[in-house]
Amino acid sequence: MNKKVILDIITVIVIILAGVGIYFVTNKTGSTAPKTTKEPDEKVTVGDGKTKIDANGKKSLVVYFSIPETTDAKKKMTTEEENSAIVVDGEVLGNTQYVAMLISEKTGADLYRIEPKTPYTTNHKNLVDQASKEQSDNARPEIKNKISNFADYDIIYVGYPIWWSDMPQIMYTFFELYDFTGKTIIPFSTHGGSGLSGTVSTIKNKLSNTTVEENAFTMSRDDMEAAPDEVDTWLKEIGTID
Ligand SMILES: Cc1cc2nc3c(=O)[nH]c(=O)nc-3n(C[C@H](O)[C@H](O)[C@H](O)COP(=O)(O)O)c2cc1C
Repeated sequence: MNKKVILDIITVIVIILAGVGIYFVTNKTGSTAPKTTKEPDEKVTVGDGKTKIDANGKKSLVVYFSIPETTDAKKKMTTEEENSAIVVDGEVLGNTQYVAMLISEKTGADLYRIEPKTPYTTNHKNLVDQASKEQSDNARPEIKNKISNFADYDIIYVGYPIWWSDMPQIMYTFFELYDFTGKTIIPFSTHGGSGLSGTVSTIKNKLSNTTVEENAFTMSRDDMEAAPDEVDTWLKEIGTID
């Protein structure tokens, strides 16, 4: 083999090794650095323009994310579907959705559901896998629409299920989409055993110049029947209803 052939072989090996190196470095960085939060194209106005103002002159909004794994009240549910949903007056609701509706009913706050631009699967295994991947990618799943009158609200109740001991990644998208300066955030969640999983501190660390209520509400998916009473007791504790 002459020198030129040997040199060519070495060059090819160096290029391949460099490529493999770049691949690993890029992927490692990608797994920890957050993906970019994209502005939704659609806008939505929340409430009917007659939002209730509380005794302190404040306006409240309940924002929630919830994925019931079925919405069909007639079918026999699998255990996973039962875990993720509650039937109220013949309607299948997600656990967090139910708590959100109760808070809205009891406080008169407007209600807004965070919907993903690309709907989540309702197949349990696939949902669990997707949530895990989103978390390890530090993804920012896109939200379908943006609240145009967000600035009007002073108190924002924010609800989410616990996914993999954290908030679903779409909640990070939500917290990065809006200006929370001067607002009060009141977190609530439902879970399968892990409680709030440190999510109140996570929210506090993410938002500066924002008051975050430490006495957040959390409820196990196994206790959902008690939600009306528990929500009532909690709202009285934090002083938003009498
Ligand atoms: C993808 C996924 C991950 C979950 N991870 C956890 C967890 O880490 N800890 C926990 O207590 N429950 C976990 N759960 C259970 C949900 O928090 C619980 O069922 C919740 O009430 C669902 O709320 P939703 O019906 O409003 O979506 C998980 C559920 C799913 C679908």
